[in-house]
Amino acid sequence: MTAHDERTVSLWAAIKVAPDAAPLRQDDHVDVVVVGSGIAGLSVAYELALAGLKVAVIDRGRIGGGMTARTTAHLTSICDDYFSKLIDLRGREMARLFHESQSAAIDRIEAIQETEAVACDFRRVDGFLFPSTGDQEATLDRELDAARQIGVDAERITGVPFAGFSATPALRYSRQATFHPLKYLRGLAAGIRARGGMLYSETVVEEVEETKDGVRVATDAGFEVAAMWAVVATNSPINDRVALHTKQAPYRTYAMSFEIGRGLIPDGLYWDTEDPYHYVRLQRGDNETDFLVVGGEDHKTGAADDGEERFSALADWTKRLVPNLGVVTHRWSGQVMETIDYAGFIGRNPGNERVFVVTGDSGEGMTHGVAASLLIRALVLDGDSGWRGLYEPSRKTLRAIGDYLSENSTAIKNFSEYVAPGEIESIDALRPGEGAIVREGLTKVAAFRDDDGTLYRRSASCTHVGCHVHWNSLERCWDCPCHGSHFAVDGTVLNGPAVSPLADPG
Ligand SMILES: Cc1cc2nc3c(=O)[nH]c(=O)nc-3n(C[C@H](O)[C@H](O)[C@H](O)COP(=O)(O)OP(=O)(O)OC[C@H]3O[C@@H](n4cnc5c(N)ncnc54)[C@H](O)[C@@H]3O)c2cc1C
Ligand code: FES
Repeated sequence: MTAHDERTVSLWAAIKVAPDAAPLRQDDHVDVVVVGSGIAGLSVAYELALAGLKVAVIDRGRIGGGMTARTTAHLTSICDDYFSKLIDLRGREMARLFHESQSAAIDRIEAIQETEAVACDFRRVDGFLFPSTGDQEATLDRELDAARQIGVDAERITGVPFAGFSATPALRYSRQATFHPLKYLRGLAAGIRARGGMLYSETVVEEVEETKDGVRVATDAGFEVAAMWAVVATNSPINDRVALHTKQAPYRTYAMSFEIGRGLIPDGLYWDTEDPYHYVRLQRGDNETDFLVVGGEDHKTGAADDGEERFSALADWTKRLVPNLGVVTHRWSGQVMETIDYAGFIGRNPGNERVFVVTGDSGEGMTHGVAASLLIRALVLDGDSGWRGLYEPSRKTLRAIGDYLSENSTAIKNFSEYVAPGEIESIDALRPGEGAIVREGLTKVAAFRDDDGTLYRRSASCTHVGCHVHWNSLERCWDCPCHGSHFAVDGTVLNGPAVSPLADPG
């Protein structure tokens, strides 16, 4: 199971990426084993297969069923946490490299969908940053100045195509893009297989180990894959307990799609200056109706359980800007990993030579995943890359120390929940469809009663490093606030970094 098996369903989910992929049922030996089949894992596998290496991709659920199936797929080369802040934290050259690498990722997607003839609705569009409430002139000025310092093509304009926004100042960024994420993954998967690569679904990787002359990946069914290199592209890394997880934090974000008449809003990417910000794009539908896809209302994972209110707020915000919207077709949520200095962690896993990691999407995981494929290809084939320092997983950004301390206070506060009372007096108080934490003696139990009355009891202790899980009533799953694991009501892992299910509380 994966995030695909959470309760809400995205606009993209009907597309199956590689439905015939089967579990790994024997030991295997390849050049590169990739763990995770989202945009990052499949992009890395594609590049290395294209270079003539033998690759195997392993996923714990269906191929492409992770957060990539829950994205909104803005393909942007702009730092959504602001270039001005990135320059403050890491300097002008790193911000320039960030833009260069994210632009290269969009170019690469454009090239692959052309050469592999992937019908994925790819198109180049402009991106627009605009204030949706209040006066944000200073923010726009600062961002325009930052863009000019690092050579980003941006210009100040007046007006965005929303009701009441014709005189609103905004920034326009050229050569951004968008596509249908799962149609693209389907094309990548076919491209990998056409070059002899193997895709294994429904196979949990339990261990990734560097050996004397290569790597070894062990799975839940007892089979192993030996390789020269391993790439851990599980969104939140399963092979790390501290080094990377203390430098990033998980956030839940919400998305909806509405029917919209074709041409009502010009095709483009739109995002506002709020914190958390709203993000809007279009997707072509059949006949004369398209979809307007909107996202936002983020909160730290596990810090709120009010998905319905988040969707209402998102719908209100959207209808204020676009009053002539049609019906809501899909509503879904997912998770992004925010790093303390806005760039992902991509490269050699700290302490390893032959194990690479891709994580820290910072809400821009589609382009980060593809940038990762270019960076890791260069590290494997050429030994180095000009982007290595920017994304170096072991880096410490001293100027981000404040964010580092604040993100890590979540884990410290979380452990104190073990001594708190349960959320309800006893399991008998649980109504059908409800989940809650119950104290049973010294043990905290994550309990859920199904609509038909079936009771599920699991330990409330996350199997990653033991934080206390929180109920998510929208997705009907248990979310771990510390590093982003999600568990189904029967304890099965839906999203890493956890590998093992929630334990039986006895
Ligand atoms: C609502 C929403 C909107 C977003 N909008 C945008 C956007 O507009 N633009 C953008 O760039 N980004 C966006 N993002 C972020 C982006 O979608 C993600 O960062 C990106 O899809 C992550 O890709 P990935 O390959 O790293 O992870 P995933 O797609 O999650 O893939 C990781 C895979 O690893 C597998 N796995 C995990 N553990 C194991 C294990 N033990 N064994 C085997 N397999 C394992 C999982 O099953 C999963 O399939 C958005 C995210 C959300 C949720
Ligand atoms: S995800 Fe790390 S403790 Fe739960």
